[in-house]
Amino acid sequence: MFSAEAKKKIPEILKRYPIKASAMLPLLNLAQEEEGWVSEEHMCEIAKLLDLTPPKVYEVATFYTMLNLKPIGKFHLQVCKSLMCALVGSDTLIQWVDQELGITPGETTEDGMFTLSAVECLASCGTGPMMQMNDDYFERLTLERFRTVIADLRSTGECELATGPFRWPDPEVTT
Ligand code: FES
Repeated sequence: MFSAEAKKKIPEILKRYPIKASAMLPLLNLAQEEEGWVSEEHMCEIAKLLDLTPPKVYEVATFYTMLNLKPIGKFHLQVCKSLMCALVGSDTLIQWVDQELGITPGETTEDGMFTLSAVECLASCGTGPMMQMNDDYFERLTLERFRTVIADLRSTGECELATGPFRWPDPEVTT
């Protein structure tokens, strides 16, 4: 269910598009911004707003892997496993997540803090191994840097090693 705050944004989103159905992705994103995932309740609400059937919204929501269809942890770690990152150690990065947090792709830590997903290319192919955490990128990860990210997220909820997206070059990282 959209919050009162989100409902204020809906008319603005709808008026951007001459065809109502075109507002589906922005509305799905709005739903995800609210709780970190898109519930069936949200999908039904979006269907009503766009004069569509709920399955029409469901088929779009299930196509885009960046939309979460079940609750996730506070910090969503998305490790790129596409070719360029795989060549420089994305499998190892996934092992570090397991080693440090005890989760494999698709799992969430018991305290609800971290969820791990293995995802396709995040357009940071020259700086692997890398992961996205919520809206931030962490690139050229080593075990030491990864441990720093996790420790900082646990203690303050943010980490200065965040490098993007779209912040280049990263002054903290040597090539
Ligand atoms: S291959 Fe990993 S970001 Fe492109």
